[in-house]
Amino acid sequence: MIDFRSDTVTHPTPAMLEAMMKAPVGDDVFGEDPSVNHLEALSAGLFGMEAAIFCPSGTMTNQIAIKCHTQPGDEVICERMSHIYQYEGGGIAFNSGASVRLIDGNRGRVTARQVKESINPDDVHKPVSTLVSLENTSNRGGGSCYDFADIQAIKEVCLENKLKLHLDGARLFNALVAKNETFKQYGEVFDSISICLSKGLGTPVGSVLIGTKDVIKKARRIRKIFGGGMRQAGFLAAAGIYALENNVARLVEDHKHAQLIAKTLETKDFIGEILPVETNIVIFEVKGRYTAPDLAVKLKEAGIFVIAISPTQIRIVVHLDIQPADVKRTIDVIETL
Ligand SMILES: Cc1ncc(COP(=O)(O)O)c(C=O)c1O
Repeated sequence: MIDFRSDTVTHPTPAMLEAMMKAPVGDDVFGEDPSVNHLEALSAGLFGMEAAIFCPSGTMTNQIAIKCHTQPGDEVICERMSHIYQYEGGGIAFNSGASVRLIDGNRGRVTARQVKESINPDDVHKPVSTLVSLENTSNRGGGSCYDFADIQAIKEVCLENKLKLHLDGARLFNALVAKNETFKQYGEVFDSISICLSKGLGTPVGSVLIGTKDVIKKARRIRKIFGGGMRQAGFLAAAGIYALENNVARLVEDHKHAQLIAKTLETKDFIGEILPVETNIVIFEVKGRYTAPDLAVKLKEAGIFVIAISPTQIRIVVHLDIQPADVKRTIDVIETL
């Protein structure tokens, strides 16, 4: 099967497995795992931020960040299709007791003006707006990326209104590569950044939350409460170190592959709107002789695994385990439909 369901389906390469096998480890809850300490220092250093904490998942890093930045009854501002709102099990309410103000954005992205309009006045009837969370790239936005100037404008609004700014950077590396941006730019603007090592970078497990010393100190306590304190986690951290050192620049390959697939889709009469392909995700509408689930079944019969994300839309996610020959075969199959 050629598996385009998600960039989370990758398997560690022999070189990554070797790095994992060789990792020096210790008890990370005691702060004694050299590989975890290395990964955390490396991640914080990349962004020019003070500290970082290794966690099992991106859901946990996001939820810890939200808990760090809010009090029960506060309000979090985010885009309607944000992962933190749509796909984290109501965690904002469950873990932090906070409410949510949703913005209808443009392919997952919001503007400074929309953020400004979403901040509650200082009125006892209203929840206190304390946190803005952005997602870059945006998963449901089809891998769309922010223009950095728009993020800076949002930061200005946050500063003027004393709001914290969190980034769900599950696929930030894809945005950095696509937009030719630097880690440090992001480190200067956000109060906390969550990055996922288990998506485009191809590790089996793990995310890192990066922020100030104070935020990460608090995050360590919350991670323990959430049950995310791991012991000899260095075997996993070593995969993350390997990924940060070897698997970032190559993301351009995934982006090229996504473009090639989209170009072929464009030629087919049963394909409607294709969201602009900015990184490794292709979301497209299916019309005419197929519904999206029909087409997904047809592709599966031909050995190609995709997800119908609605009755009319399919998502293809390109990743480390998709080889040029897989892209060619996918294009050949689409052409026969
Ligand atoms: C944008 C975004 N944020 C966060 C996550 C959560 O990551 P995890 O699956 O590691 O909890 C995902 C997972 O797909 C995601 O796409």
